[in-house]
Amino acid sequence: MTVYLVGAGPGDADLLTVRAARLLGEADVVVRDRLVDESVMDFVNPEAQIVDVGKAPGDSSSQESINELLVSLAHRYETVVRLKGGDPFVFGRGGEELLALHEAGVACDVVPGLSSALAGPLAAGIPVTHRGVSRGVTIVSARGAHGDATDFRSLANPELSLVILMGVEYRRTIALQLIEGGLSAGTPVAVVEQAWTGQQRTTRGALEDLANFDVRPPAIIVVGGVASFALRSLHLFDVALL
Ligand SMILES: C[S@@+](CC[C@H](N)C(=O)[O-])C[C@H]1O[C@@H](n2cnc3c(N)ncnc32)[C@H](O)[C@@H]1O
Repeated sequence: MTVYLVGAGPGDADLLTVRAARLLGEADVVVRDRLVDESVMDFVNPEAQIVDVGKAPGDSSSQESINELLVSLAHRYETVVRLKGGDPFVFGRGGEELLALHEAGVACDVVPGLSSALAGPLAAGIPVTHRGVSRGVTIVSARGAHGDATDFRSLANPELSLVILMGVEYRRTIALQLIEGGLSAGTPVAVVEQAWTGQQRTTRGALEDLANFDVRPPAIIVVGGVASFALRSLHLFDVALL
């Protein structure tokens, strides 16, 4: 009778919170997203029903049906886990599901997860803040709820790191607008693909070259001085364009 909105973290199951792992083991049903790493599913109660509602990027049409599904499952099962990649409240539509469940009178709880917005850069050895380099971080999605592109001109600030989610397909516009907004063309950029998975890969270079990076989603784009920090992880494939 309770729906738990649970963050699975960005990749490997080692990054699950203890609370998330416990709830997966107790779940009667797990409603999972596309970006949840397969290793996380090993923690699910073997008796639990698994419902895959993975959506392709940009597909917002089925959110309402997911909300309805969660409400109907809550009436049939004791423990429903809604499992999302990263953190449920960071571009995860967790807020929308929480509101829908509240409106339907369904008990709901939220379990945070490590967001790719912070853990993604970290996986490539990039600290999103660093004394003397970056005094803060702006986390932004490259596209809005209706597929409209974010205007990056107003986000150009050499004192802040910029962490961009869902930005791979907009990388040409992102670079053009940030340079138009005042960032130098040589500002360091790093793109971290599939962070915390066996396929993790980091590409680095200058902002003016971002459009030519050979990268695919899911990926995090980091813009700012911190993006040039040295790799800490030896097992990861790193491509430097600078
Ligand atoms: C719909 S958002 C979900 C974000 C998620 N709730 C979080 O907190 O990480 C999907 C975007 O997150 C980013 N992302 C999620 N997992 C990632 C990963 N393992 N590596 C790199 N980027 C990731 C990508 O930018 C992807 O397009």
